[in-house]
Amino acid sequence: MRKPKIAVIGSSSMDLVVTSKRRPGAGETVLGESFKTVSGGKGANQAVAAARLGAEVYMIGCVGEDAYGTEILNNFASNGVHTDYVEPVTQEKSGTAHIILAEGDNSIVVVKGANDHVTPEYVKEKRDFIATCDLVMIQQEVPEETVIEAAQLCHALGVPLLLNPAPAREIPDVVVEQVSYLTPNEHEAALLFKKEELASALRKHPNKLFITEGAAGVRYFDGEEEMLVPSFPVKPIDTTGAGDTFNAAFGTAIAEGMDVKESLRFANRAASLSVTGFGAQGGMPSREEVERGLGE
Ligand code: RIB
Repeated sequence: MRKPKIAVIGSSSMDLVVTSKRRPGAGETVLGESFKTVSGGKGANQAVAAARLGAEVYMIGCVGEDAYGTEILNNFASNGVHTDYVEPVTQEKSGTAHIILAEGDNSIVVVKGANDHVTPEYVKEKRDFIATCDLVMIQQEVPEETVIEAAQLCHALGVPLLLNPAPAREIPDVVVEQVSYLTPNEHEAALLFKKEELASALRKHPNKLFITEGAAGVRYFDGEEEMLVPSFPVKPIDTTGAGDTFNAAFGTAIAEGMDVKESLRFANRAASLSVTGFGAQGGMPSREEVERGLGE
């Protein structure tokens, strides 16, 4: 089978991860247990996950001209992600995500830094390349105008765009119309479709809107009925990056020509494996691991 060619437009960051027994409240100091820096950023995570699953992946992004930027580029290289369209910007620091892992969940503050240089113009310059891709993925750690431009461009080129609307922010209706796949979690979906019930939003967007419900699975409307594709139960170590793995796996499967339900099952399996390792990318599975898990 030919490898699907996927472009990921998005953020590349370093994750600064602190583990602590307890999350501090406002104005409070607690003693933590460990501190690690690992590669992250929603765009980079999706690019790495898709590459591990066998796609030919091209990152379209920016890093700072700093030590983190070098580390991010090295990480792309060691995961086989093409960086022809990743530019170092001198006047900005690389993006960082400040993560606390406590009480079985994460809290994250993202400082976009160089990721803000992934502008509409930056994307437009890659038009000819984007036209050759089987699928494009984008998230929301880059400017809002960039998401709008990518939706318009991919729509005009007839290249399917998967928008993972995370972190949550409102999206113009035209973007919802132009994208091929929209994958909010329940909170993001509630913000995007605040004027209507989610069941009605699902019906209006058959096989396009996929609402992820964490451990419960993913909900969508297949044109005839509302479906819930269940997740695979696992004992999580770190849930950071599970959503990114889900999106990457779903995009890869769709670009390979799997049907929607099969793609969602593949994506759920990949996401469930991803939470069994530390860090956003630590547990991201290989193709073989996902297929083995699906066979079980
Ligand atoms: O989705 C997980 C990612 O979100 C982390 O890697 C962190 O970079 C944040 O942006």
